[in-house]
Amino acid sequence: MDIKKDIALLRSRLREVKYLGSSVALASWDQEVHMPPKASAARAELLAYLSGEQHTKFVALDHDKLLTRLRGAKKLSPKNTALVRELWRDYMLATKLPMAFVVEFASTTSEAQQVWAEARRKNDFELFQPWLEKIVKLSKEKARLLGGLDAYDTLLDTFEPEMTSRELDVTFTALREQLVALLARIQSANQPKVRPPKGMFPIDQQRTLLDAMLPQMGFDMEAGRIDESTHPFSTDIHPFDARITTRYDEKNIWSSVGSAIHELGHALYEQGLPAGESGTPLGEAASLAIHESQSRFWENMVGKNRQTWTHFFPQMKKAFPKALAGYSADEWYRYLNTVQPSLIRTESDEVTYNLHIILRFEIERDLIKNNLHVKDLPHVWNEKMREYIGIRVPDNARGVLQDVHWSGGMIGYFPTYTLGNLYSAQLYDAIQRDLPDFGVKLAHGDYIPIRDWLRDTIHRHGRYYSAKTLMRRTAGSPLSIDPFMRYLTEKYSKLYGF
Ligand code: CO
Repeated sequence: MDIKKDIALLRSRLREVKYLGSSVALASWDQEVHMPPKASAARAELLAYLSGEQHTKFVALDHDKLLTRLRGAKKLSPKNTALVRELWRDYMLATKLPMAFVVEFASTTSEAQQVWAEARRKNDFELFQPWLEKIVKLSKEKARLLGGLDAYDTLLDTFEPEMTSRELDVTFTALREQLVALLARIQSANQPKVRPPKGMFPIDQQRTLLDAMLPQMGFDMEAGRIDESTHPFSTDIHPFDARITTRYDEKNIWSSVGSAIHELGHALYEQGLPAGESGTPLGEAASLAIHESQSRFWENMVGKNRQTWTHFFPQMKKAFPKALAGYSADEWYRYLNTVQPSLIRTESDEVTYNLHIILRFEIERDLIKNNLHVKDLPHVWNEKMREYIGIRVPDNARGVLQDVHWSGGMIGYFPTYTLGNLYSAQLYDAIQRDLPDFGVKLAHGDYIPIRDWLRDTIHRHGRYYSAKTLMRRTAGSPLSIDPFMRYLTEKYSKLYGF
């Protein structure tokens, strides 16, 4: 066998798969950003066709045993070894599910999402209940087909390789206890009066401000763009084409800025992946949790840092002289970091956010392990909200029905958000060891060395290392809640004076 030739053939096949994947990403981006409403059925058809072609091409990778041959090859370079290892994992996931199952799962979840939207609108859990029951059943079936030892672990592994419910259980239980205790301290402290900035923030000026901020934070505007959509997102078409969106609210400047900085973190990762590996696993993010660690690092450790606003607040004040007249950078900083138990996960602060995630993890794990019936979800949800966050849930629309994930069949996804937050704090520790003047850099608007540190330690590696190995290499320790709790405690004890 000629390894060089086989690798070249493999890469050329992957390129074709990637062309289809990029087309899907581009058409999906357009669907959210520019598409006229009447095109929606035609676009759904186009996307279904392109995704189908992409899947067909991918599962044909090994039709002549090319991949099998390379798996058995003795003298692969470390890079090609990682390439074949990761590809085999994807190939196994893609081929273990029979086509009939894939089609059933896709059509059930697509219909369930429509029903979920209606159920949320009407505040009617019973409407959604039979659909969620179907999805739980299909998810167990999926786990069985994928053939893992534990059903929830198997589902989890499709989103976050190497993570287990046992490790999550231990980590999240400790985290939950410490967060509940910290929240109690914050709530019993003397709450300083925080007023949000009042007044109007014209959207044109918001756009101009973001066009100035993002490149300063290291975003290459020649290899990406920012647009508007109902729900902010980032999309990976190619490292030279990393697109993000945000949303604009004339009354709330943090809505667009905060979302843009979060998505910027994702996009910097995409721009930092090795372009020469585009289409191969080595040109992809290490995991969902690592991806989220990047967005949360920028959103929280940078975006909600006092030093960042030493640099950016004067710029913002210049853009909105009227709305921010008499408003100080200190007030802005306190406003960004207000801790307030709330019903909605996506609107919650850094302290309570992970409690929202942990309760979702506990519920979905128990559903898959048969320890909980779908019909009991509202009750269990509301109990946990009261116990962990100290808030009474007035209706299911703002309770158990608030997220799209379960209707989309994404059971096992939620934990990656909290893992991302924990990793982001581990990275925060590590970067301050390597760049002791981190805070000074923020205050001076000197963000490029920060982006480059992330590029060097995380981005450029793609999936060469697993998420866990990558974190051990970069942070010097395995998954831990300590850096995150230390970060929160230091920050909020100062803010709330305890
Ligand atoms: Co994100």
